[in-house]
This record gives sequence, structure tokens and C-alpha cells, in this order.
Amino acid sequence: MSPSVLLVLLLGLRSSAGSLPPPRTSFLLNSTDRPLVLFSLPDVHNTTTLLLSDDGSTLYVGAQDALLSLDVSQSDVISLKKKVEWSPSEREITECASKGKNPTVECPNLVHVLRSLNSTHLYACGSFAFSPHDVFIDAESFSIVQYGNAKGRCPFSPFQRSSAITVDGELFTATTTDFKGVQPQISRHFSKHGRPDVSQDSSVALKEPTFVSSSLDPADRKLYFFFSEVGKEFSFIDDLQIARVAQVCKDDVGGQRTLQKKWTSFAKAPLICQSPKQLPFNVLEDVFTLQPAEGSGAADTLFYGVFTSQWSSGPESAVCVFKLQDVRAVFTQSYRTFDMQTHQWSPLVGKHSYLGKCGLGNASDSVLAEVKRSFLTSDSVKPDGGGPIMVSSGERYSRVAAMVTEAANGTQYTVLFLLTESGLLHKVVLFARGAQVIEEIQVFTQAQPIKSMLLSSTKGVLYIGTSEGVTAVPVADCSIYRTCRQCVLARDPLCGWSRTGTACTRLDGRDDNMTQDLEGSRVEDVCAGQPRNSKITEVGVKLNEVVALRCVKPSNLAALTWTSPQLNARTKNLFMQSADGTLSFIATADTFGSYRCEAEEGRYKEVVMSYNVQQTASPRSMSPVTKVNNEPPPSGVDEPYEDIPTETAATSTTPTSEHPEDDRRPHVGDKFTTNLKDETESNTENSGSKNNLEEDLFLDLMSENNAQVMTDQPDDAQQVLQQKSYYSELVVVALLLAACVCVMILAGLHTWNQRRAGLKQKPLVIPEVSSRTDPSMESVPSLSSPEEPEEAEEKVEVKVEVKVEE
Ligand SMILES: *[C@@H]1O[C@H](CO)[C@@H](O)[C@H](O)[C@H]1NC(C)=O
Ligand SMILES: *[C@@H]1O[C@H](CO)[C@@H](O)[C@H](O)[C@H]1NC(C)=O
Ligand SMILES: *[C@@H]1O[C@H](CO)[C@@H](O)[C@H](O)[C@H]1NC(C)=O
Ligand SMILES: *[C@@H]1O[C@H](CO)[C@@H](O)[C@H](O)[C@H]1NC(C)=O
Ligand SMILES: *[C@@H]1O[C@H](CO)[C@@H](O)[C@H](O)[C@H]1NC(C)=O
Ligand SMILES: *[C@@H]1O[C@H](CO)[C@@H](O)[C@H](O)[C@H]1NC(C)=O
Repeated sequence: MSPSVLLVLLLGLRSSAGSLPPPRTSFLLNSTDRPLVLFSLPDVHNTTTLLLSDDGSTLYVGAQDALLSLDVSQSDVISLKKKVEWSPSEREITECASKGKNPTVECPNLVHVLRSLNSTHLYACGSFAFSPHDVFIDAESFSIVQYGNAKGRCPFSPFQRSSAITVDGELFTATTTDFKGVQPQISRHFSKHGRPDVSQDSSVALKEPTFVSSSLDPADRKLYFFFSEVGKEFSFIDDLQIARVAQVCKDDVGGQRTLQKKWTSFAKAPLICQSPKQLPFNVLEDVFTLQPAEGSGAADTLFYGVFTSQWSSGPESAVCVFKLQDVRAVFTQSYRTFDMQTHQWSPLVGKHSYLGKCGLGNASDSVLAEVKRSFLTSDSVKPDGGGPIMVSSGERYSRVAAMVTEAANGTQYTVLFLLTESGLLHKVVLFARGAQVIEEIQVFTQAQPIKSMLLSSTKGVLYIGTSEGVTAVPVADCSIYRTCRQCVLARDPLCGWSRTGTACTRLDGRDDNMTQDLEGSRVEDVCAGQPRNSKITEVGVKLNEVVALRCVKPSNLAALTWTSPQLNARTKNLFMQSADGTLSFIATADTFGSYRCEAEEGRYKEVVMSYNVQQTASPRSMSPVTKVNNEPPPSGVDEPYEDIPTETAATSTTPTSEHPEDDRRPHVGDKFTTNLKDETESNTENSGSKNNLEEDLFLDLMSENNAQVMTDQPDDAQQVLQQKSYYSELVVVALLLAACVCVMILAGLHTWNQRRAGLKQKPLVIPEVSSRTDPSMESVPSLSSPEEPEEAEEKVEVKVEVKVEE
């Protein structure tokens, strides 16, 4: 760590770094839009470890007091193949409790390690009533073949983190080795070829470490362990956490006299993750090893690390990526030496080229004595690019996985999956211009101390272990993007718009037939000629009923705007738009007509929903709409649609003229009142000329047509109905009030009324209140009945217009 870092540190400066834009889309748990596959059993809790079989068909799970083998060969269901109980006995739990541990929380067996040992066996190590035990499992039959005491191979405490990796049947672990959990050790077990098991020489080599991950460098025959610990090189700062990477050589056998059965290759180096002029992110939460693409060498291996800061007041984290070649390089450079008397580190002068090297088994005692006290590198491993690839000042990420994918034009993109403490999974794409969270998926609701995450990029599935079970998250669900624009705006390198199939689909590497615009701003160009969302949902309502038109933002970055010919300066107080985008109003002569909800994101505007609100037949009223909007504008001129900006709209809306198609859209709302036709044909598709309104409009009984529309769009229709029922109580109250007023008026007008025998019903005469400005529900003039027409018993005709635009 450089002096400038310490200076900043001492000055206590910390301003929040330029943070990430919000996630583009968000899906709550159980969202039907982004379905997840869940596996849970009533007696399976606390999934701590996940392991996928080589063929990708079986997921092995370490849970509380059990090991599970799950069939994950189907993409849409996870089923149990076998469950093996592995729990401490009553006596062992009593013993655990007698040592002061909570019998239900700390004494069950929580599985810390589950790895495949060799081609036939799996290995597992669990906390086992604060007395670590391990098992060998026959992978074929998924049965335990051997039990053992595993002190030193995984922690006593179910909550302490550790890391383990198996290589060629040997087990390498980084864990504490004692009941109190204060003696850390990196060691090798089940050593092959007659060589001894090897462990750490000095109890001061590691200081209160939290191990998070480990990785193999097969080319250099080295293992790397990632952790945070108290950095004793800065003795003047108490409890300063430092992120580290430690190395040991896979084939280290220890020295002959000095360092017998101890690592001669152990060394550690600081990992730096820091934005310029900021305090460092110094606590390591997780590291994911991204293997190099086929064809490139091991040196291209990347380590993605999630960091937090010990000085953070709020949720905050950063991701830094380290290259294996930079890690390798730091261990070949200069070292510091530790003074056992003063417990101080000082630079080691002179060249000591053997430090950090493998194969020191036959080295002289003087060389090994130097190795023994000089195991901290002078230099730090700096991240690729010099600083974090992303900083979040709103989320505390705790797990990371990464994959590389080839976009349609052949360019490679890295996609990160970051899990927060609170159960949100962020899918992040690393674009040249910076990281962007393109999806946020809720995977659990209760914050969990123990969780695990496993990415299979070949299967395209991310498995997450939670306290309830296992959740499989498909890495992409492109079908949620319904139009070319939405598909392209998603900027998901895993999704492309298929021009041949006119659908948003998963792409598999380079594909010229797939449309994407990941970094550019050519959405309109690349989607030219692709169908837009032109479905019009018919809504049939009775007069004075509350209408709630739903419009769901296609993205958190979009601003919604409702437009309608019915919206003008005079009527705008009749409408209310809620934060979720729903437009509510009372069905009156002034409000029947067409409504369009548009989403604007970046510079792109797209119709999300189109509604046509029409009056349904009602036994007691019939009202040919009398309002006619000024003059219908000539074709090709902008419509007199007026916007209701969203409460959250960040940008003002622009006229729709940037979309030439809009000008061809018939001005339904302006003309339908004069185009009522006595026709009951229920066509839903316009095959005629776009400019001929007479041909576009089809009349139908609304009840019939609604049923049809609802089956087309169950979600929207249900929402409309739900909203209606929500408001219906208000309407009922309003109607009752109105009825009271009526009774009074009726009493007054009794005589006059008797002379008007031709009328079957009394008009409601609540005056229209149009001067109110408060756009809350109370302000909406809830009752405003038009005059009762003479031909009240005639069949009600309501026109229906459903158009499909190119
Ligand atoms: C999600 O679904 C599961 C089972 O279908 C249910 O137990 C759970 O309560 C649901 N969670 C939420 C937040 O709706
Ligand atoms: C195990 O899960 C239960 C809830 O299912 C939770 O209360 C408990 O804290 C979990 N134990 C650990 C070690 O996470
Ligand atoms: C795998 O390891 C187990 C346990 O040490 C051993 O019994 C078995 O023979 C090994 N299998 C192979 C193929 O090496
Ligand atoms: C040490 O020397 C012996 C004898 O020369 C040799 O057999 C052995 O492989 C050497 N060990 C190492 C680790 O180099
Ligand atoms: C693109 O589509 C054309 C015609 O359907 C087909 O011949 C060609 O193989 C496709 N190209 C790719 C890369 O899929
Ligand atoms: C692919 O598209 C990206 C973003 O539009 C661009 O930066 C890159 O150069 C393109 N790659 C190729 C091989 O054309």
C-alpha cells in the first residue's frame, strides 16, 4: 500500500465514488416474468455448498445435516435423486451444548466443503456439532463410504468461512483449526506419492483471516488462497483489514531439517482495490476465478473480487479484476521480512530469488530460515485497469460469478452476477463505457448469513443456495422483451432480436441474423422495419365507473407518458396517474376514447400499451357520446394528444413526430363519435387502408369483444378488473351520496316529474366540477351524467377498433 493511500486514510477522506446507474429492470421474487426454478424440501435448510457434476446433470448440495443429489438435467425442474442424512448424534449435540454452544443454531452439521476428490469419490467436511467431521462419498451411488474426524480441514463454527480445493485427489484447505476459531492454517491433506501432509509453519503468518476463495494455477502448479486479514505491516493503525492473496506450491514437501512438513513456498501479497483519491475497499467478500477461453494460456485467467470497506457507513462495494500474470509477477519480486521479536515488517535488502519459488525441498537451512521469515511481498497486486471496474454506493455485494459471452457481432463481453446480502441478484455487463446493471432479480427475502452461488456458463444457469433450498436462475430470459426496441435496449449480450423469427431470443455466439446494439445508440436503425407493439386493448366500462388503465414500465430507466385526445387543458383534472403508471379516471362522455402509454428511454420512445375505452351496454343508461373534439386534424399532422407526464418522469416528452408511423395512425379518438356503425362483426385485425377510418372501425357489443381481448391479454385485463374493484367502493359511496341528493331533488320536483311520463329514469344532476386542481381521487368529479336520451331502450352500439400496424 502506498504512502498516499495511508495519507488519505489518516485524513479520513471518503467521498462516494461515481456510482452505478440503477438496475434497468427489476423482478421481485416469484415474478412470472422472470421465472426461477426452486427446489425446497420441508426438512432441507441452510444450503451452504453446491457442486455440479462434470456432465452438468447432477447438482450435489451440502445442507444442514444432509447431503443431497439433485437432478438438474431438465431446465425447468429440479428433482431430488437422493438425500443422505449426515447429522451429529444426540450425545454429540449434548456435548456441543455443554461447551456453551446453542444446540439448535451452532450444533447442527453445516457443510463447509463439498468437492469432487477424484473420478469416483466426493469429499465433504462439516462443522458437526462443533467437532468437524468429513466423509468420502461414492459419487455413483451417492452414499457415504467413510467417516472421519476432520479437525484442521474445516472450521468448528458453522458460521466461520473457509476455503478448500481438491487437486488430483489431494485436499488443500484454508481454515481455522481450533474450537475457538483463532488458529488459521493453510494445509494439504491426503497427500499422494508418499509425500507428507504440509501445513503452515508460523502462527503469525496469518492474522485473523477470513478465507473467501481458492484457485489452482495448473501451469505454475500453484494454489492461490484469497482472504482478508489484519494487516500487521501497518502497526500504527489498529485492526486495519487488508485483502490478500496467498500462494503455496502444489507439490511442496517441506524442508529437510528447517521447515519440516511446512510450506517452503508460502507467501502472501496485498490486493489493492481502490478508486483514485478514495479510501481503499479493503475487505474481500468473494473471488471468482474466470478461466481463460479455450486456446488462450493460463496466464489469461482473471480473478473477479468483490470488496467492501471497513470504513463504510452504508452499503457500498466494489469489484476489481486481477490478472493471474500480475499475481504471479508480484510473488517473483521483492519481499519484506518479519522480526519475530518486534513483530514488525521491514524491507528485505538484496536479491533473494528463491523466495516464493517452488522446489525448495533440498534448500539449505540458511535459505529456508530466510523463507521462514520473509513471506510478505513488498508490492501489491493492482487491479487490471488500475481501479475498480465497478463501484456501487447502494449495494453491499457478497458473492460474485462471471462469464464471458460472444455478442452477435463477435465481440466478447463479460457478464457478472453479484448477489447482495439482502437477496438481490444483479446481472451486470461490463461495457467499454462502464458497468451497467441490466437486471435485478430477487432470489430470497430474508437476509442470510450463509449462502452459496454456482455458475455454469455452459448450462446457462446460476444456482443459488439459500436457507430455504436451491434456486436456479437462467442467466438470461430474452422472451421478456417483446419488441425489437425492448430487446435491443435491454443491452443484454446474451439476447438478440431475431429478424427471421421476429422474437427476442438467446444467442449462441456470433450470429449475423441477430440484432443487437450493445454499446451504440442506433436502436432505431437496427430495429427499422421490425414490428412495434400495436395491440390495442379494448376496455368496456359503464358510465361513471372508475377506469384504471395499467401501464408497466418496460424498464426502470424509462419515463411513462399517457397521451390521449381526451386529455386537454379542460379535462386534465379528471385524470390521475399513480406512481406505478396506472391512469385512473371516471368514465364520462369526456373520457371515453383512446389512450396510449408511451415509455421513453434514452432517446427512444415506444408505445407500451394502447387502450380503447368504450361504454358498455347498461340497462339504465345509454349515451351516444356527444363530445366532439374540435376538428379532426388532417392526416399527417400531429395528433392533438396531450401528455400527462409521470410523477417520476425525468425528461420532458417530445412530439411523436420522430416516428413516421405515428402519423399514419388513425385519429380514432377524434372521430369515433361520428363513426358509429351498426355492425356486429368482431374482427380484431385491420386489413383495410390505414387512412380509411370507416374501414378501421368495427362495432361490436362490448361484452363479447372484451371477453376476446381478455383472453388475449389476461394479465392486463385482470389488472384492469382488479383496479376497478378497488375503486368500486369509492364509486358506491359516491353513488349513495348522489342518490341522497337525488331523493331531495326528486321530492322537490315530484309534481313536475309526474308530468314527464315518458321518462323512465331520473337524471342525476350533480354538477360537473371542473375547477378543482388537486389530482387526487376525491377531486375527481365522480358523477356526471349526461341527459337521458329519449331512445333509452335502444340497443347500445359501441365501436371497437383493433388495429395492427406494421
Ligand atoms: C414464492 O413462492 C413460494 C412457493 O411458491 C412461496 O412459499 C413464497 O411465499 C413466495 N414468496 C413470495 C415473496 O411471494
Ligand atoms: C439455518 O436456517 C435457519 C432458518 O431456516 C436459520 O434460522 C439459521 O440461522 C440457519 N443457520 C445458519 C448457520 O445459517
Ligand atoms: C478416490 O478416492 C477414494 C478415497 O480416497 C479412494 O477410495 C478411491 O480409490 C479413489 N478413486 C480413484 C479412481 O482414484
Ligand atoms: C532432494 O534431493 C533428493 C536427492 O538428491 C531428490 O531425490 C529429491 O527429489 C529432491 N527433492 C526436491 C524437493 O527437490
Ligand atoms: C441467417 O439466415 C439465413 C437465411 O435464413 C441463413 O441462410 C444463414 O445461415 C443465417 N446465418 C446465421 C449466421 O445463422
Ligand atoms: C461489435 O459492436 C460493438 C458495439 O457496438 C463495437 O464496439 C465492436 O467494435 C463491434 N465488433 C465488431 C467485431 O464489429
